[in-house]
Amino acid sequence: MEKLVVEGGLPLAGEVDVAGSKNAVLPVLAAALLTREPLRVGNAPRLVDVESMLGVLRDLGCEAVRRDDGSLAVQAPSSPSQRTDWELVARMRASFCVLGPLVASTGRAEVSLPGGCALGGFRPIDIHRKGLEALGARVNIEGGYVIAEAPSGGLRGAEMYLGTAFGSSVTGTANVMMAATLARGRTVIQGASCEPEIVDLGHCLQSMGARIDGLGSPRIEIEGVDELHGPDWDVIPDRIEAGTYAIAGAMTGGRVRVRGCRPEHLTTVLERLREARIPVEVGADWIETQAFDPRSPDERPGPTDITTHPFPGFPTDLQAQWMALMTMAEGRSVITERVYPERYMHMAELARLGADVRREGALALVCGTPRLSGAHVTASDLRASAALVLAGLVAEGETHIHRVYHIDRGYECIEERLGALGAAIRREQAE
Ligand code: EPU
Repeated sequence: MEKLVVEGGLPLAGEVDVAGSKNAVLPVLAAALLTREPLRVGNAPRLVDVESMLGVLRDLGCEAVRRDDGSLAVQAPSSPSQRTDWELVARMRASFCVLGPLVASTGRAEVSLPGGCALGGFRPIDIHRKGLEALGARVNIEGGYVIAEAPSGGLRGAEMYLGTAFGSSVTGTANVMMAATLARGRTVIQGASCEPEIVDLGHCLQSMGARIDGLGSPRIEIEGVDELHGPDWDVIPDRIEAGTYAIAGAMTGGRVRVRGCRPEHLTTVLERLREARIPVEVGADWIETQAFDPRSPDERPGPTDITTHPFPGFPTDLQAQWMALMTMAEGRSVITERVYPERYMHMAELARLGADVRREGALALVCGTPRLSGAHVTASDLRASAALVLAGLVAEGETHIHRVYHIDRGYECIEERLGALGAAIRREQAE
């Protein structure tokens, strides 16, 4: 198993390009099942999760390849298989996004209940089920598989509310929106996800011929069509990767320009950075942290509370990285996780680096300390790994981050990108 070794204390400086969005490209790839024409996807990040999704699609009978220019080409066969392999879906929860397109286009889908990041708690699929049932599908769970069957005559449009106790569901909205594009009549989804990744998926579906209104709002309307076509689609830049590198600049006090991102997807994060007294500049497609000395008594980041919410709130996928930043702040900050209330597994590992962190029910309290010191830590999930890398960049000595395979699921070549900014970071085989 591999680990990352980070030598802390070096200032970062320079420019870093953001890759395409992981959470946008995964449902877009699943949308290939809605047509028998080829789908080409550009700006597709080179990530383990993307390979996993291609594996799921191949298993269903699709041709799915990465071309020499980096784009992905996926074409569904005339009769795709209707059952996904347990092992493939268990690797990544987003594989569950094939359920909606498969049942809409073939009348039946058997998809293993997903695995993926545990995020400290159970991740239900009741919203996906509720939405497909509203469209007339019969949905049962048998032998660890979700089995969805369309009624004779196919799915039919319906009005439904898809909010959860924790806000809207991103992949729940994706699954049901994709299914509704081929349903007969009009579907109205209330409580829909407003995430940029859902807007991107919706735009991709529109370019395939789908009729969708209200993208980016909690009320999405879809008028079903008879067939969809194969588009050529470039996915949006990854806002979580962009935010992670901006926080890396903020923690190391370097002038780091994050290029090729959409600052409007990070409004809340930028607001909080400014509130934390981090000097940040923003252009049309870049964010730049300015040089300062976060360890000097005059310039330490200000303690800044955050509460995670669905978009446009502070993203849960940047909560762990924010906590890493707050371990350096001058004073105490409160982090409230409202999307995944148990998503705090990184706390114990940050504490190993000397962070003063503690849980109070659904809240995390972070008391900034003047220094962290390198240690062996274990990554529990993708974003937790990123937080540990960030903390390693400022900890004195070496930080060894074990189980680093998590990070390859969502960050393209992280050690190369951080290395190009001046970080001393290398990948090694762990004993
Ligand atoms: N929920 C339900 N029932 C459902 C579905 C969700 O109660 O049927 C709850 C969840 O337990 C959670 C909340 O609703 O409390 C939001 O979950 P959501 O369904 O939005 O999560 P997801 O679609 O499974 C996506 C991202 C996650 C990201 C969350 C929240 C993808 C592939 N994954 O997951 O990304 O944390 O939305 O923004 O888009 C990551 O990239 O590291 C990651 C975990």
